[in-house]
Amino acid sequence: MMNVEKIRKDFPIFEKKKFIYFDNACMPLRPKVVIDKINEYYTEYPACAGRSYHDFGTRLTDEVANARDLVKKFIGAKKAKEIIFTKNATESINLVANSFKFNSVLTSDREHNSNLLPWQKFDHDVVKSKKDFSFDLESFSDKVKNFDIVSMVHTSNLEGYSLPVKEIIKIAHEQGAKVLLDGAQSVPHKEINVRKLDVDFLAFSGHKMLGPNGVGVLYGKEELLDGMKPFILGGETVSDSTYDSYKLEELPHKFEAGLQNYPGILGLGSAAKYLMKIGRNNIEKHENMLKSKIDIEGVEKIGHVGESGIFNFNIPGKGAHEVAMMLSASKNIMIRSGAHCMHSWFNSRNLEGSARASFYLYNTLEEIDTFVEELEKIKKL
Ligand code: ALA
Repeated sequence: MMNVEKIRKDFPIFEKKKFIYFDNACMPLRPKVVIDKINEYYTEYPACAGRSYHDFGTRLTDEVANARDLVKKFIGAKKAKEIIFTKNATESINLVANSFKFNSVLTSDREHNSNLLPWQKFDHDVVKSKKDFSFDLESFSDKVKNFDIVSMVHTSNLEGYSLPVKEIIKIAHEQGAKVLLDGAQSVPHKEINVRKLDVDFLAFSGHKMLGPNGVGVLYGKEELLDGMKPFILGGETVSDSTYDSYKLEELPHKFEAGLQNYPGILGLGSAAKYLMKIGRNNIEKHENMLKSKIDIEGVEKIGHVGESGIFNFNIPGKGAHEVAMMLSASKNIMIRSGAHCMHSWFNSRNLEGSARASFYLYNTLEEIDTFVEELEKIKKL
């Protein structure tokens, strides 16, 4: 069991403001350990890593290596060089789409724009969900033999449904396809081990896992990353160059062009360490428990109904933005409304959007009760 009251003390914002924060699928709050780590960089060793052989430079090089190790441990990767720091999950997916050699790609019908738009210029198809919005493994098995790579969301930002990724990866591999998982919503909330899953690529963002903005990760199996050419070139990506040639660096540096987001990388390492200490199994159970306590009639639930940490809904006769604004105005309850960067999913169902409350480790049952009370009031307006 998690001690939520104790956890809330790790987040300085709770001392400053009174609010209920249910927009965690977009971006959670940040703990002091992450904020302190960012400050530490700027106040103690604000230099460049990997190239400056002075006090600040060597300290930072060690700190970046440590952060890479923490992220490696966090997802169960074999080697630190399989962890590529990027700007976010979006950039990680674009990196694979532009650097991996393939002709055809299969996605699901519930992809975020980040895992849909980069693939549209290729031979691309979509696996449609079943009537209950769960993943159609049968349809996937029929289609996958025609594709080189499968790129699918692990946990959906719509309503928190997790695709059966173990089966997806096994079937894809049997048919000779590689698999990329968009882990932006899974990695922060559930245990994931890339080696046990045998996934080829995993993309995720720092800002969704209590880390800083502007930093993300691409995990890739060493042999696959080794065979890929970077699509952004510049400082640190090469070991040598002449006026008309260059020699690429080894992993992971060949993919990390230019000066990096050092405070972001260090803060991400601290976020990974913090989440490992709390335990993502505990976090997942806590979020499921919170959602299971939402007891309200006359609300249309969106997507697959089942265990998860996201409650996606519409109140008949009310617009999603209207509901979000009313919750904000009455009790400072922050949720997200709209198409959640999944326009394709909403367009294919002739829906304009929905309201979404998403939970994390610091949310409480009292907050859920207040949320439900406010929804009851809004329903009657
Ligand atoms: N993917 C983010 C969300 O769902 C933007 O809110």
